[in-house]
Amino acid sequence: MSNRIPESFIQDVVLRTDIVQLIDGYVPLKKAGRNFVACCPFHTEKTPSFSVNSQKQFYHCFGCGASGNVISFVMEYAHKTFLEAIEMLAARLGLSIPQGEYNAKQAKHTPLYDVLRAAMDFYRRELEQDTTALAYLEKRGIDAQTAQRFALGAAALQWDRLYHHLLQKKFSPESIAAVGLSARSDNGREYDRFRGRLMFPIRDRRGRPLGFGGRSMSADVEPKYLNSPETPVFHKGGELYGLYEVEQVTRTLEYLIIVEGYMDVIALSQHGIVNVVATLGTATTSEHLQRVFRLTSKVIFCFDGDNAGQKAAWRALEAALAVLSDGCELKFIFLPQEEDPDSLVRSQGKDAFNAYLEDALPLSQFFFNQLSQNLNLETPDGRARLASLARPLLEKLPIGVFRTLMLDELAKKTHLSVSSVQKIVPEHVVPSSYKMVETSIARKTPVRLGLALLIQHPHLVQFVENKNIFKEVVVAGIELFGSVVDYLQTHSGQTTASLLEHWRDQTEGRYLERLAVEDLMIPEVGVQAEFKGILLYLHKLAIEQTIETLWQKASHVGLSAEEKIQWQALIQQQKNNE
Ligand code: UTP
Ligand code: MN
Repeated sequence: MSNRIPESFIQDVVLRTDIVQLIDGYVPLKKAGRNFVACCPFHTEKTPSFSVNSQKQFYHCFGCGASGNVISFVMEYAHKTFLEAIEMLAARLGLSIPQGEYNAKQAKHTPLYDVLRAAMDFYRRELEQDTTALAYLEKRGIDAQTAQRFALGAAALQWDRLYHHLLQKKFSPESIAAVGLSARSDNGREYDRFRGRLMFPIRDRRGRPLGFGGRSMSADVEPKYLNSPETPVFHKGGELYGLYEVEQVTRTLEYLIIVEGYMDVIALSQHGIVNVVATLGTATTSEHLQRVFRLTSKVIFCFDGDNAGQKAAWRALEAALAVLSDGCELKFIFLPQEEDPDSLVRSQGKDAFNAYLEDALPLSQFFFNQLSQNLNLETPDGRARLASLARPLLEKLPIGVFRTLMLDELAKKTHLSVSSVQKIVPEHVVPSSYKMVETSIARKTPVRLGLALLIQHPHLVQFVENKNIFKEVVVAGIELFGSVVDYLQTHSGQTTASLLEHWRDQTEGRYLERLAVEDLMIPEVGVQAEFKGILLYLHKLAIEQTIETLWQKASHVGLSAEEKIQWQALIQQQKNNE
């Protein structure tokens, strides 16, 4: 943990403060079903999407994604540091922070967000006097107002200018490194990660910088773009560049354009096309799209006209399939070769770009065009090939009108009847008990669902009898599942909020937080059975995998007598389970 107050004391504060009472003191809450709601204090809205759950002791805004426990609320709402928040909550409970533990060192503790904010401010001030950077802005046609609006900055071409500034501001070397702003050289000296670069802060929807992108301003500084690494507060696969800036200028998002580069966002925005964001040098993920579809129902991807652009578009399409619920619309723009949105809008203007917007290709058209490339649909062979190419992709679509339309289209193109197409593309490939969840949440695996259930209902830990499964099974996410089980078994009486407190500022913390607020679509009465079902599934998987390992071994080097007995026992168990 990044603080020196005993964790047990922090847990005590979290468990003894009632979140509904606390928040109600700042933001009047209304009861709605089992939750309490209000208009979100963290973003502007007219209808309430801020919800406080008394059982989980957790808040979550479905609009802006803000979420957390009582400590997070005080930090965010009252702009307090972590320590100040604990002090305040402790005082409210009439507790004082344990003597002797709270020493001068703690004054230096600052949440990671504060380091990032200080760096952003520093880079911005540096820009004002950095002639190289100012000339670069000019060359790229970015005006002062746009630079302001995107909080652009400059990192000088020096080894540790930012590092020294942050130390002076009393930030610890550890916190500077933790947000990825410094690195250590072979001879043990800290140096700035970003040097000789135009700096783009990547901000969350509340305007807090989470990380940076840096554009090289000369040929000898490589690579062209450098981004902050993944840190406890920065998760590239989920963030979008420019979202905060979009919401600063427009509250109603009829549609959102997703482009590839920072400069594309900035140039379009300066030319009056303001509802535009970019991924952070990564492919578009389902997570990106889930976030975006919470803000608007219409998304337009804009890719470069080259081969790489086509590939990126296809990847985006694949990521989208699982999250495309009814009413969502996805379109694609392909720009001419050698152009990107930045170059196009600068040379041809806003209207030219808007013309491309008008002509954007609907997902269904892009989908079938792409798959039918090099196929001759006049022949039965070509049509069969189309069906087999489309099948694994269409399978991912949630049940709904859009899926039906796509299947109809496939039927038309393959000359098959709609009912045969429906047979070719079965509704689900996942185990039947997870069907309901699979349709609503992307990438829902049993492990992820089990972990989500456990975080939302920590008391479920009592049903874990065989802890070995967490060591035996080889499947993504199982270690984290195992650590949460461990923690709950050694710390009784936990709530969702206190559990998450333990993971604050750790890389997994943000993932766990997302699971904590996800709507699992499982009614309260079904929770226990569902969780037990997942344990059973993992148990069976463990057996299956061990048998497989033994089988491999048997056919290569042979089994010891002991292993043979184990094998037989496992096979017997497997039979019993059937
Ligand atoms: P591009 O190479 O298409 O550059 O990268 P660009 O956006 O047109 O940038 P300019 O106009 O040359 O300045 C698109 C995006 O890919 C990521 C960045 O996020 C960039 O905005 N990228 C690119 C990197 O992360 N690293 C690189 O070295 C290059
Ligand atoms: Mn460019």
